[in-house]
This record gives sequence, structure tokens and C-alpha cells, in this order.
Amino acid sequence: MHDEAYYQFLQRQTSALSVALGYRDEATSRHSERVAGRAVRLGALCGLNARELAILRVAAAVHDIGKIGIPDQILSKRRRLSSADWVAIHHHPTMGADILMACDFDGARELADIVRHHHENMDGTGYPDGLRGEAIPLGARIVSVVDAYDAMDEARPYHARRPHAEIMTILESEAGSRRDPDVLQAFCRLLDDA
Ligand SMILES: [Fe+2]
Repeated sequence: MHDEAYYQFLQRQTSALSVALGYRDEATSRHSERVAGRAVRLGALCGLNARELAILRVAAAVHDIGKIGIPDQILSKRRRLSSADWVAIHHHPTMGADILMACDFDGARELADIVRHHHENMDGTGYPDGLRGEAIPLGARIVSVVDAYDAMDEARPYHARRPHAEIMTILESEAGSRRDPDVLQAFCRLLDDA
């Protein structure tokens, strides 16, 4: 699986960020921990090496760190978000990448890359850079699938928790447009084996 010593190193470098996110937004922090656990297993199925898996696990744990920069009235809003709110939320991947690029350790740039691109879509309609297909880092394509599953698997202020079969139907309908079809196929195998 992942390179344990390098993973421990990365965790030490980023633990202050995770603690800060937990104080700011506990729900996002718990969600991120679940996403990290699944992302690393999915990454192994997608053929990442031990170092890449360590990076992926930590990147998944801090993928929403940029939410620290989202105003409270949007972050903790209990009603449906307005289009202006979504514009503000769409800044979180770049803010997260900025935070990681301000860190100075081996792997910070790769972490920042995954964080920056975790909301890109395969067809180029995502944000912040509108990257397409394999131009999107594989780690970011993996986080995208696991993140989307987990978001639909829990109740949020603006939607109820969805059943597993419904989530998989939605994700499969997004194969090739939003999600990487190969990553999605590996994710199905992962859940089938669980
Ligand atoms: Fe996000």
C-alpha cells in the first residue's frame, strides 16, 4: 500500500492544517477523513505507487482546506446556496492550493496540484482551470469520485442522504463527463469487495 514513513512525514507537515479545518468546519473535517481512507484504497487499484499513494491519502484529507477562506455565512448556511454563494465556494480549490504552496516540504507541490484540481470535470466543464481528461492529475480524478460518493452518502443542509444504488446510478451517468470512467469502474470494484 502507501509508503508508511513518507505518509507519516506528510501527516506531520499537514497536521496543523487538518486541526485548523476541524475547528473551522467539523463536518468537512470528518468527511475528509472518510474520503482519505477510501481514496488510498482506490488509488492502489488505479496503479499508483507507494509514494503517490501517501501523497494521495494526505491530499484527500486536506482537499477542502481552502474552505477556511469561505465566509461563515456561506460555509454554515442551512438553506439552499444562492448562485453568488456558489461563486464564492468555487474559490476553495485555488485557496487550498495556495495554502499548500505556501508550505515548504517535499511533496507540497503535488499535494497542491491534487487539491487545486479536485473539482475539474473530464469534459472540461469543471473548475478552477477547466482541465480535460488526463490533463487532470490522476489523484484529483480519484478524489473527485470518492468525494462525490461521500457527499451524497450523508445528509447536507441542502439535500437528504441518498441510498447507495441511487448514488452509483448518478455517478455512472457522469462517467466521461464529470468523472473518469476507469476510476469509476475501479471504485465499483472497491465497493463490491468491501
Ligand atoms: Fe471540494
